[in-house]
Amino acid sequence: MLLSVLLIVSIVASGIFPLLAIKVSSQLIDHIVTTNVIATQTILYHLLYLGALWLMHDLINPWILFLQSSLADKVVFVINRSIIDKSNAIQGLAYFEQQDFHNDLQIILSQAYHKPVNLVVTLVGLLRDFTLIVSCIVLLFSKISWLSVLVLISIVVHAKIISKMQQEIWKESLGRSTNSRMMNYISALSINPSFAKEIRLFPISNYLSKEYSRLFQMIYLSMLKIRRRQLLWPIFSCFISLVSNLAVLLYLTLLIKNGTLMVGAITLLLQTLSQLHQSVLSFGEQIGWMSGHLLFFEKYFQFLDRSEQVYTTPITKKSSLTINTETLHISFDNISFVYPDGRKALQDINFEIQPKEKLAIVGANGAGKTSLIKLLCGFYAPTTGIIRINGLPIEEYDIQEVRALIAPVFQDFGTYALTLKQNIIMGDELDNELKLHEILKKAEINFIDVFKHGLNQNLGKVFGGTDLSIGQWQKVAIARALYKNASLFILDEPTAALDPISEHKIFNQFGKICKEKTTIFVTHRLNSIKMADRILLLDEGRQIAIDTHHQLLQHNALYREMFESQASQYADLKTKPIY
Ligand SMILES: Nc1ncnc2c1ncn2[C@@H]1O[C@H](COP(=O)(O)OP(=O)(O)OP(=O)(O)O)[C@@H](O)[C@H]1O
Ligand SMILES: [Mg+2]
Repeated sequence: MLLSVLLIVSIVASGIFPLLAIKVSSQLIDHIVTTNVIATQTILYHLLYLGALWLMHDLINPWILFLQSSLADKVVFVINRSIIDKSNAIQGLAYFEQQDFHNDLQIILSQAYHKPVNLVVTLVGLLRDFTLIVSCIVLLFSKISWLSVLVLISIVVHAKIISKMQQEIWKESLGRSTNSRMMNYISALSINPSFAKEIRLFPISNYLSKEYSRLFQMIYLSMLKIRRRQLLWPIFSCFISLVSNLAVLLYLTLLIKNGTLMVGAITLLLQTLSQLHQSVLSFGEQIGWMSGHLLFFEKYFQFLDRSEQVYTTPITKKSSLTINTETLHISFDNISFVYPDGRKALQDINFEIQPKEKLAIVGANGAGKTSLIKLLCGFYAPTTGIIRINGLPIEEYDIQEVRALIAPVFQDFGTYALTLKQNIIMGDELDNELKLHEILKKAEINFIDVFKHGLNQNLGKVFGGTDLSIGQWQKVAIARALYKNASLFILDEPTAALDPISEHKIFNQFGKICKEKTTIFVTHRLNSIKMADRILLLDEGRQIAIDTHHQLLQHNALYREMFESQASQYADLKTKPIY
């Protein structure tokens, strides 16, 4: 705020100084020309005054630049921070799967660093030019009152032309957003360590390189078309400016010829007119630029206005509702779910989870296991049906209340390039070190001893840390869920990357920890199913059965087949050598 006020005051002053200087110099000339006895004192006074004005004028520009850069930094920070906050505040995942969301985000992020700065610079320019134009018109009004009309016309024409150019460029950037994103994606691929191995062993790098050039060429050619058109537009506005300048000069010549003007006044008029000419062109240009910046801000505010909620049906939300975790009861009533892209994932799912029950979900790849979990986490709303928690539809609770219940290990868990500690506590402010060490043991994190910085070791290579094996990363993800220690454990193949000994030990730990908690776990490993009270069997999005392991084994052919195929593999391994 203080910065903005200082900036405005400084700009207004910087716009007035040159005009004051012109006025003082014209008074000085008049004094010299008209008085017979030149008073040294008056000349000295004028010269000192002029010197002070020039000095101020020269000194104020670096000061304005300083204020402007500081303000621009702050504006850029606020915009970027609001984009991060908004993205994190969006409760569901649907937006993140939509192309137009990413296109919008791409265009906002790609311009977020210069548009706010440009806005500040343009506003500064506008204010400065406005002050100059007003001061010029005030100075000239008594001599050429009709000049204000010419000034207005020139500004409008110039502003229109520049704003048209800005709109064309903006439309073009919207249109090429997908291609630009693809280019960014390709360049990110080539520096992403996760892809480095395959890119070197498969012949894709040539393809990527060609694709990058092809996309660049497309964007370049369409920009070239616009740039060519833009070369022609300013001719028109320069013509208008030229005609009005000539008209004013002609009028001045007439005045001089009639002897109506004194030498001082002529100097004043000529200097002011030249100042006015520059300011008018620049003012029109700044208005045009401004309209371009506003298009960015329109997009930015549309982005901020996007709904953050997952459930769109109006409900009487009682945000103060708390969930009794001791009697946590969950039910899926007639749930069907189609992804926003139209892909059917679940159909007619009906089951209940009793307090502290351990439910395993099994089924082939693509059966809908992860989708079901995503619905329970509130990442999507079901297409039909209701998920209830303790008898109430999930949407009646504040989503944060529901999410506070859940300690998850996702199938595609995150690997954060942060310290080991932050990877586990995830920003928890209580930061309980004792608890953390216990968790490390439970999650079989025995590799910390080799870390130079222990818990504060950076993980991942991007910030100079140590990388972990996939299994070690998965142990970190497990530790994260154990640290959160919420009432509902949701584990989506939590041990898929672990060696059998670690898996066995960790499942023992889960057995102990989850004793007093409701647990839903997805698994392909039927030997871990012993931990489950009941098993939900899914196939192609449908609920095939929900029952105990023994009941399913006896009565369900698909389950028996799944179980026996794995059991026979284990038997094979025991009897036959692998090679
Ligand atoms: N974000 C998504 N958008 C559209 N379709 C999706 C999305 N995620 C998954 N699907 C589709 O939904 C179906 C169920 O996927 P889901 O991830 O739930 O399977 P899953 O049972 O967890 O399989 P897996 O054992 O391989 O993890 C699949 O056909 C899948 O292609
Ligand atoms: Mg899955």
